[in-house]
Amino acid sequence: MTRFFNSVAVLLAIASFARAQCGSGSPDATVTGSGSSFKASKGSTSVYSGSDYRAAIQAAVDSIGSGQRVAVMASGSIGANTITIGSGKIFEGCGTIDTANRAGHGAIESLDTTGVKIPYLTMTGNPYFGLRFYGTKDLELGSITMNLSGGLGIRFDRDAAANSNVKMGTITVHGAGSHAVETWNIDGLTIDKVVARDVGECGLLLQKTTNAKVGLVDGDNVATGTGYATFRMANNNGQLSNGAYTPNVFIDKVVSRGGGRGVFCVSQSGGAVITQVDLANNGNNAILLENCYNVAINSGTVNGGGEVRISSRDEFPVSKDLTIKLTVNNNSVRESPCGTNISWSISGNASKNLC
Ligand SMILES: *[C@@H]1O[C@H](CO)[C@@H](O)[C@H](O)[C@H]1NC(C)=O
Ligand SMILES: *[C@@H]1O[C@H](CO)[C@@H](O)[C@H](O)[C@H]1NC(C)=O
Ligand SMILES: *[C@@H]1O[C@H](CO)[C@@H](O)[C@H](O)[C@H]1NC(C)=O
Ligand SMILES: *[C@@H]1O[C@H](CO)[C@@H](O)[C@H](O)[C@H]1NC(C)=O
Repeated sequence: MTRFFNSVAVLLAIASFARAQCGSGSPDATVTGSGSSFKASKGSTSVYSGSDYRAAIQAAVDSIGSGQRVAVMASGSIGANTITIGSGKIFEGCGTIDTANRAGHGAIESLDTTGVKIPYLTMTGNPYFGLRFYGTKDLELGSITMNLSGGLGIRFDRDAAANSNVKMGTITVHGAGSHAVETWNIDGLTIDKVVARDVGECGLLLQKTTNAKVGLVDGDNVATGTGYATFRMANNNGQLSNGAYTPNVFIDKVVSRGGGRGVFCVSQSGGAVITQVDLANNGNNAILLENCYNVAINSGTVNGGGEVRISSRDEFPVSKDLTIKLTVNNNSVRESPCGTNISWSISGNASKNLC
């Protein structure tokens, strides 16, 4: 009996795994072909045939309605152009979509939309933004892999309509010149993982983003030679609409190796709980909390790297209501200038200069 149920469970697991592959099942529209010959079809109807990969993708996207799915099976280059995804559409990038820089724009954009899903995407090249969003509601990104030679991975715009209920699965970004993932103006964000490798600025940068839950932020060689960080909160991140910093940004774990800073909170951000950190050999501060309010870093280790510091600049109220419990070795820990209601619990052999 047990064996029977186990077999059934295995078969069901295999079936759901198979269903969960990019382009599997019966997508409503597909893009196929290669080289200079691409075809977009909606069911059995051809909606594009020709040499332009971008035009084929856009024709396929435009052919489906809300709740329908397009699978881009072909690989190719869209050049310095933009693919636009409208409300309710499901976009699967199963081939590799190569991109180039279109100033101020995303290689793929979804603006002022509801219910867009991008369960899979593999992107290469040097886009201005790989993915660009604003004004979205119920956006879902699944497994997104960007192997870039420059540009910014995923960007939610600053000076545009706000977003709500955004979900991301595993976001892996290599080689972005700027940030791997940069948010502005999101209320309600869930991210499983951001993995950033050899990225110029931040791994994950949250700004004016509230009610966020993030599993892992993992950076290696991120922000080298800059003041950016594997995980950065800035520009009033985590400040609720009533002005309060009640905890609403929850990060399970930040891992950072080398690069610039590990964890950086700045410019009146806070309301955050980081359950665990694992930071080593950061080229700038392993941790810097500067003019931040109500942040807890509850466990973890820092080995070497730049000093762990709480600080404040004159332009904003001093850092306040911070809790830091860590093992810090081969480093120093400093509070300067003194904050208000700061609770330190530091073990390890770091030198300490606290208030
Ligand atoms: C990323 O792309 C570069 C060349 O563009 C290639 O050499 C490298 O293997 C790729 N890495 C991954 C992880 O795909
Ligand atoms: C601390 O530094 C010493 C001397 O450079 C090194 O031998 C040791 O491995 C470092 N320890 C850790 C935990 O990084
Ligand atoms: C000090 O900060 C903690 C959070 O770290 C908060 O719970 C507590 O209420 C604060 N105490 C005062 C006196 O503000
Ligand atoms: C500090 O502790 C680490 C880890 O135990 C050790 O490797 C290192 O040698 C120590 N450094 C000093 C200066 O005691």
